[in-house]
Amino acid sequence: MFDPPTIAWQDDHVVMIDQTRLPEELILHRCDTAEEMAEAIRTLRIRGAPAIGIAAAYGIVLGLQKSSAESFKKLQGEMGRVLDLMRSTRPTAVNLPWALGRLRAVAEKHRDASITEIKGALLQEAQAIHQEDASLCRHIGENGQQLLKDGARILTHCNAGRLATGGIGTALGILYVAHEMGKKIAVYADETRPLLQGARLTAWELMQAGIPVTLICDNAAGRLMSQGKVDLAIVGADRIAANGDVANKIGTYNLAVLCEKHHLPLYVAAPSSTLDFQLASGEEIPIEERDAQEVTEICGRSMAPHGVPVYSPAFDVTPANLISGIVTEAGVFTAPYDRSLSRMKQRG
Ligand code: MRU
Repeated sequence: MFDPPTIAWQDDHVVMIDQTRLPEELILHRCDTAEEMAEAIRTLRIRGAPAIGIAAAYGIVLGLQKSSAESFKKLQGEMGRVLDLMRSTRPTAVNLPWALGRLRAVAEKHRDASITEIKGALLQEAQAIHQEDASLCRHIGENGQQLLKDGARILTHCNAGRLATGGIGTALGILYVAHEMGKKIAVYADETRPLLQGARLTAWELMQAGIPVTLICDNAAGRLMSQGKVDLAIVGADRIAANGDVANKIGTYNLAVLCEKHHLPLYVAAPSSTLDFQLASGEEIPIEERDAQEVTEICGRSMAPHGVPVYSPAFDVTPANLISGIVTEAGVFTAPYDRSLSRMKQRG
């Protein structure tokens, strides 16, 4: 198990594991300002839907802590600019605007308090979001046990583990709890091109935890399934629409189609902060497109002819009908998702 937490608030700044440096180096990156936090999120020093929600919340605290505003109105104006900066970093994971919404609501609630008290309340809320996420992950991990038999062979994509959350992870949280319970599981990790979160992060963190993991190229998944070597797939999510369509790392949809072809279940694990009831279907989810260089180069070395046009969506949408169940902190939800997820919402 690795030692430093993925992200931590320390006195008046944030320290995070710099995920762009893994697995070669486990080094910490410090953010003192909102601009530094925005850079860390954009460049994927910190990534994963719940983790960027937490990071953006701390980004607001960093952006306002040195404010000399003397009135709520002035502070509100400054907060608006920091909120815009954080919102501009990455568009797909809904956890980010969800966390920002919580901070804005706290500021509003304390509008008659002193500026010092408002700043204190904002830090408290960011820390609450962080701690709550740890507890949500643990519940997801426990709720997912009904899906995992002793001896299960699980395929996962991207990184939905400790490095992507404030706790033990979502998809990988289920695997960590299974391992703690003594279940003998084996994991296949898709390398996850273009940025290799599966190879660099998932393989690394599972090895640190002593969970058997085998790395595969993304395009080996079909071969693996056709050989009968996979029992189920579990992935995380960046945003889940009201009808159960799921945006997750590019390649998740390919995996879902392969699972259907091979009659294998595909489960999605995510906290309620990843649900977006305002969007009726996955068609409305904004999909981030990233720089061509992330596709044309690997580790700084060119892999494609200079100037070739590139299309690089960071996420895709898996339609609800390819998803066997959504594991949340409140239980495992199945189709029809518009009904099961809205029941979950009503229960709060
Ligand atoms: O681009 P990334 O690395 O932020 O993408 C992350 C993913 O797609 C994860 O699967 C998702 O955020 C779930 S993390 C618990």
